[in-house]
Amino acid sequence: MDISRSFGSTQALGGVSFAIPKGEVLCLLGHNGAGKSTLVSILATALPPTSGTARVAGYDVVREAREVRRRIGLTGQFAAVDESLSGRENLVLVARLLGASRAQARGRADELLQAFDLTGAAERTAGTYSGGMRRRLDLASSFVGSPQVLFLDEPTTGLDPVSRSGLWELVRSCVAQGTTVLLTTQYLEEAEQLADRVIVLGRGRTIADGTPARLKARLGGSTVRAQLAEPARLPAALDALRRAGLDAGPGEPDGSVAVPVRESAALAAVVRALDEAGLGITGISLTEPSLDDVYLALAESAGPLPGSPAAPPAHAVPRPGVSVPS
Ligand SMILES: Nc1ncnc2c1ncn2[C@@H]1O[C@H](COP(=O)(O)OP(=O)(O)OP(=O)(O)O)[C@@H](O)[C@H]1O
Ligand SMILES: [Mg+2]
Repeated sequence: MDISRSFGSTQALGGVSFAIPKGEVLCLLGHNGAGKSTLVSILATALPPTSGTARVAGYDVVREAREVRRRIGLTGQFAAVDESLSGRENLVLVARLLGASRAQARGRADELLQAFDLTGAAERTAGTYSGGMRRRLDLASSFVGSPQVLFLDEPTTGLDPVSRSGLWELVRSCVAQGTTVLLTTQYLEEAEQLADRVIVLGRGRTIADGTPARLKARLGGSTVRAQLAEPARLPAALDALRRAGLDAGPGEPDGSVAVPVRESAALAAVVRALDEAGLGITGISLTEPSLDDVYLALAESAGPLPGSPAAPPAHAVPRPGVSVPS
């Protein structure tokens, strides 16, 4: 059954279903309040669903929560480090709680301090860490138990570009070892970098589901953008393009035009049309649709923003529950 969760009259999740094959990465995208953290909390056994069932690593998140907890790692949206302990102590504590011996715990802490670039700050209390360092320590904690399934709720929010690509590498290496990952993000580039599959949530419902490539394909082809040397000649440029069978829409006041095209050969057609009309250009580019475009297009079609009551489903389709294999 589909996963739903309400808080009073607010329906945070209104029936979400999916399965992640072992060793794959699912990215959950969605605007603020879409229900991403709620879904992560339910799968990580921190919050029971109002209705529906879910299995993680083969165990039911409600009836077998303890078994689930032994097999997952979780980094929540907000850092959960003990500020009075040093970075190393935080990691050793987590390892000991997971049943490691003192020596094993120290070994694992050292590995992770290294991997998350915290060795230099290992002995300082976490209370003295910068926001990004805290985030890295928090992330390191979720890797301690070498979990089968890793939940990362906006893991790279607040990280600098170097730390961000460092985290991507860590996720990839976990996945290479068979870990299944569910991560939420506001960064579309992150989904493109990591995801085997992307689910876009809107008001607690799945509004898109597929590979990054398929989502992009929904938007059609690429776009040729050209910047006119003389912005005032925009109307002439639009005319010339139209005569060549290219629709550039209204153009931009700064004298740039964007022409949706089906194939890259159309780049030459745009250049030729402008050149034949005697219009100079100072720049031209061919851009593929990004997940950003997909996200914006879908978010618009999702209707009113969160907070408004979600409409009931048009018809109830029986589907398997949420399932995150080991
Ligand atoms: N404990 C709670 N009590 C009441 N309402 C809640 C609670 N947790 C979440 N909600 C509501 O449920 C909806 C989904 O919230 P959720 O935190 O899952 O969104 P999100 O997609 O993680 O957003 P963000 O990108 O801002 O982190 C929101 O309308 C939120 O206000
Ligand atoms: Mg959230």
